[in-house]
Amino acid sequence: MDESPGSAGVADSTHLVVLEAVNKHFGDLHVLKDIDLTVAKGEVVIVIGPSGSGKSTLCRAINRLETIDSGTIKIDGVTLPDEGKPLARLRADVGMVFQSFNLFAHKTILENVTLGPIKVKGTPKAQAREEAMALLERVGVANQADKYPAQLSGGQQQRVAIARSLAMKPKVMLFDEPTSALDPEMINEVLDVMTDLAKEGMTMIVVTHEMGFARKAANRVVFMADGAIQEEATPEEFFTNPQSERAKDFLSKILTH
Ligand SMILES: Nc1ncnc2c1ncn2[C@@H]1O[C@H](COP(=O)(O)OP(=O)(O)OP(=O)(O)O)[C@@H](O)[C@H]1O
Ligand SMILES: [Mg+2]
Repeated sequence: MDESPGSAGVADSTHLVVLEAVNKHFGDLHVLKDIDLTVAKGEVVIVIGPSGSGKSTLCRAINRLETIDSGTIKIDGVTLPDEGKPLARLRADVGMVFQSFNLFAHKTILENVTLGPIKVKGTPKAQAREEAMALLERVGVANQADKYPAQLSGGQQQRVAIARSLAMKPKVMLFDEPTSALDPEMINEVLDVMTDLAKEGMTMIVVTHEMGFARKAANRVVFMADGAIQEEATPEEFFTNPQSERAKDFLSKILTH
């Protein structure tokens, strides 16, 4: 066996994220077409595909930043509620890291990480600070705690964004192209944090074209095109032997780019 996390199925684990027949339109545009996707606890799934294929919309739907037209999305067995407190609670189970770091500019790094636990979860301040410092330590930016986001590099800010998400103790983490806005030398420091997270057993759905990360950390690659899942395979299978013409075409473009 190779060193990758291996075969696509983690069959005996619980299903943490389950999408069934999910459809979403933006006006006339059918952006998510009958999406069925099950992610097991501890599984790392890479979502890959051409621009406009619906990857971000899929992530946003799982976090309920976008509504869906039909189908169901369950997180740890609970259907995503429409609104109100139950939604806030469930959303806390789903951490999200975006391409743009989305930190609060007028708050320090430490405050960025403690805000959610204090405001949303009612964590006592001292405890929130202690946990935040441990997380900042883990992502390698504890020495920046009292600075403001603009004083940090992009890679540091993205690692803070990851720490901020983790502070909510999510059951699953969504990453939407977390390294695509970063200068090349900063990409690896973020991918390393994500790889560690994967190794520690975090359930992750990651939109990325970083094949090295996919090979190292992913259990499964989901290839999307035109709003539909076209194929799913292990990273090794997908990158060496894609089945559909769309996937072959897509890979030839990102490999030569
Ligand atoms: N709020 C919106 N209103 C209308 N159309 C939208 C909206 N958000 C996304 N779209 C459209 O939905 C389709 C899917 O977009 P989405 O952002 O999910 O694609 P993507 O796969 O993430 O692309 P990229 O690789 O460029 O990030 C695109 O055609 C996009 O233009
Ligand atoms: Mg996108």
